[in-house]
Amino acid sequence: MAPPTRIGLAGLAVMGQNLALNIAEKGFPISVYNRTTSKVDETVERAKQEGDLPVYGFHDPESFIQSIQKPRVVIMLVKAGAPVDQTIKTLSAYMDKGDCIIDGGNEWYENTERREKEMPGLGLLYLGMGVSGGEEGARNGPSLMPGGSFEAYKYIEDILLKVAAQVPDSGPCVTYIGKGGSGNFVKMVHNGIEYGDMQLIAEAYDVLKSVGKLSNEELHSVFSEWNKGELLSFLIEITADIFGIKDDKADGYLVDKVLDKTGMKGTGKWTVQQAADLSVAAPTIAASLDSRFLSGLKEERVEAAKVFKSGGFGDILTDQVVDKAKLIDDVRQALYASKICSYAQGMNLIRAKSIEKGWDLKLGELARIWKGGCIIRAIFLDRIKKAYDRNPELANLLVDPEFAKEIIDRQSAWRRVVCLAINSGISTPGMSTSLAYFDTYRRERVPANLVQAQRDYFGAHTYERVDMDGSFHTEWFKIAKKLQD
Ligand code: 6PG
Repeated sequence: MAPPTRIGLAGLAVMGQNLALNIAEKGFPISVYNRTTSKVDETVERAKQEGDLPVYGFHDPESFIQSIQKPRVVIMLVKAGAPVDQTIKTLSAYMDKGDCIIDGGNEWYENTERREKEMPGLGLLYLGMGVSGGEEGARNGPSLMPGGSFEAYKYIEDILLKVAAQVPDSGPCVTYIGKGGSGNFVKMVHNGIEYGDMQLIAEAYDVLKSVGKLSNEELHSVFSEWNKGELLSFLIEITADIFGIKDDKADGYLVDKVLDKTGMKGTGKWTVQQAADLSVAAPTIAASLDSRFLSGLKEERVEAAKVFKSGGFGDILTDQVVDKAKLIDDVRQALYASKICSYAQGMNLIRAKSIEKGWDLKLGELARIWKGGCIIRAIFLDRIKKAYDRNPELANLLVDPEFAKEIIDRQSAWRRVVCLAINSGISTPGMSTSLAYFDTYRRERVPANLVQAQRDYFGAHTYERVDMDGSFHTEWFKIAKKLQD
C-alpha cells in the first residue's frame, strides 16, 4: 500500500491524464480515478513510461479518496454541467470536513457559485479553476485561474505554483483570482478573447490569400516572420505551422482540405451573452462568434454563391493587383490594432463583472498569468500588464498612452486593409468592427443624439441636453406638422 498521496485527480481524459502526470512530475504523489477504469490503468502505465512518476490508480471512488492525505484535495476534470454534479456526489460521499474539491473544467460560473454554496452543508471547500493550454499545456505547464475558497487555494498553492507554466521575469502563470465563480468567469473571457484572436488571424489569412494571392508557402513564411515581432504568440506560431503542413491523403496542403465550418463548445457564446447582460460593448468577440455561426451554414453558403455568381458576383470582386510586401505589412498592423481593441473589450467585461460581484479582480495580474501556458499567450500581454500597472483604473486599454500611440501609428494601414477587403468583397468583420469600436470610442460626439431624438419623437422617452441639466421632451410631431402646413 502506497503512503497517502498529496492530491487526487478524477476524470482521466487526455487533459486529466496530462495534468496528473504534470503534478506527479513536480514531486507531488497523486491518486487518480476514472469511472471507466481502463483510463486509470492507461494513466498509471503512462506514468511508468514517462519516468516512473508517482501516480497511483484506483478503480473505485472510496479507495481513491481514502488514499489521499488529509485534508484531501481532489481536482475534477470532467465535462461541465451534470457530470460535475454527478462526480461531486460520488466523491463527496467519502470525503470529510475540511476536504476540498476543485473543478478544472470550462464551467459556467454560476454553476460553480451554486456548488460552492452547497459545500458548507457537506463540510467541504470548493474552487472553480480555469485551466488553459490544451493537452500540451496540461502536461507541461498550463495557465491556471483558481477562484472560490481562499483557504482551499492556500492549501494547494505550493502545487499550483510548480505545475503552472513558468515565465521568466514574471513567475508562474497562476494567481488566486477571487471569490465565487471568478476563476471560471475569467477563463470564459479568456476563451472569448481566444475566439477574437482566431477570427482576426483568419481574416488576415483571407485578405492575404484571396486578395494578395499568397501561397501557403508564402503564408507560412509571413506568419513565421510575424511571430518574431509584436504579434509573437502561440496562435500565430501554430498558424505558421499549419501553412507548412502537407496533406497526407492527397496532393497539396492540408489546410486547403479542412472544411470551412467552425465548431464551438460554448464559452465564446457565454462571453457575448455576458457582455450584453453587463452592457459592455464587445463587438470584436461578438463578430468572431457570428462568424462561427455563419461558417456553420456551409450548405446555404454554397447555394448563395450560386445565386450571386449567376448575377455576376464572383468570389472576389476585384482583380486589382496589389503590392504584396505592402499588403503584408498593412495586414500585420491591422491585425495588431484590432487585437488591442479585442483585449480592451475582454478586460472591460471582466472589470464590469468584478464590480457587479465585488470580486476585486486585478486586470494586470490576469494579463500576467496569461503570458504563458494558455492559448492566448503572447508577448503583447506584457504590454497589457504594464498598462494596468501604470494605471489600475485605466478606463480602456485604448487610452493607455503607449497603446494610444501604437494605434495612431497603425491606423492608416488598418483603414487601408479594411477598405481593400470591403472593395474586394472579403468580409473582415473582426477587423472592421474593431476599427468601428476605436472610431466610436475616440469621438467626443457620436450620432446618438439623433437616436435619442427619434426615441423621444415616437415614444416620449425624453432626452438630455448638452447645454443644460434636466430631462426634456419635445412634441416633435406637432412641430413638424405645423412646419409642413
Ligand atoms: C484553452 C482552450 C480550451 C478549449 C476551448 C475550445 O484555454 O485551453 O480555450 O478551453 O480548447 O474551449 O473552445 P471552442 O470549442 O468553443 O472553440
